Amino acid sequence: MPATQPEQPTYQELVQQNQLLKDELIHAQRLTSMGELVGTTTHEFNNVLMSVINYAKLGLRNKDEAARDRAFDKILSAGQRAATITNTVLAMARNRSTGIGPTDIAPIIEETLVLLEREMQKFRIDVQTDIEPDAGLAQANGNQVQQVLLNLLVNARQAIGADGGTIRIRLTANQSTNTVDLSVQDSGPGIPQDQLQKVFEPYFTTKQGPDETGKGGTGLGLSACRHIIEAHRGRIRVESKLGKGTTFTIRLPQASSADESDSFESDRIAAAK
Ligand SMILES: Nc1ncnc2c1ncn2[C@@H]1O[C@H](COP(=O)(O)OP(=O)(O)OP(=O)(O)O)[C@@H](O)[C@H]1O
Ligand SMILES: [Mg+2]
Repeated sequence: MPATQPEQPTYQELVQQNQLLKDELIHAQRLTSMGELVGTTTHEFNNVLMSVINYAKLGLRNKDEAARDRAFDKILSAGQRAATITNTVLAMARNRSTGIGPTDIAPIIEETLVLLEREMQKFRIDVQTDIEPDAGLAQANGNQVQQVLLNLLVNARQAIGADGGTIRIRLTANQSTNTVDLSVQDSGPGIPQDQLQKVFEPYFTTKQGPDETGKGGTGLGLSACRHIIEAHRGRIRVESKLGKGTTFTIRLPQASSADESDSFESDRIAAAK
């Protein structure tokens, strides 16, 4: 008697499964980047508190006015930094919508840099930004764009390694493609030609596992970035020169006035649910 063949999934079922897996990957990545944010901010907060406590002790020990003034100055700037961190986290929490709508990318860049500021300092990386003031709004989901940016910045920082270097972030409106273009350029070692297209494949990694900050090594970062950008009907591409560095550029569709009413409509629908 011939063995019965297991039923083959149809093409449609495979497409559905594929989409499901992509959604799961994006969700898992979102949790990872949330974990990263919580980890970074807790660590930063602890540093700030240490400054406050130590300078308060110093001020109490020293009776002369000049030393106390210096201690107060340090406590004040630590307090201001703490306020910046909490405001950033609150702004991100407020912007937790899951939909795509007209989104200003510039504040997302700034918020992400606040979170990575200490890490970049620690690795002696000079982060330069070049943000076009009228870059306009992209048709995007802010949280997802931030997730992509975090992945690109952590990759750039890891590529640069221990000796320090430069990361340049650019935001421009591209009128020929009707897109808002965001690029992250690093002064790292570059990517060999034969690996260039592989970097977007899931599980492709050249890292030995998580680094000292606990980041990197699964090979899922760029693959999630590509899924996110494609879901926005945008593009992500990479250019690299060995010994010179690497640039990742994402292109997001510009928001039009019609998108404005679309997103208003979808907000109303979401609110009515
Ligand atoms: N800026 C860069 N410079 C040089 N190589 C890079 C850069 N960004 C990515 N790569 C290469 O592409 C590979 C894949 O990157 P990807 O972000 O997908 O995974 P990963 O960083 O290895 O791990 P993780 O999933 O934790 O992000 C990296 O291992 C590295 O070899
Ligand atoms: Mg990565």
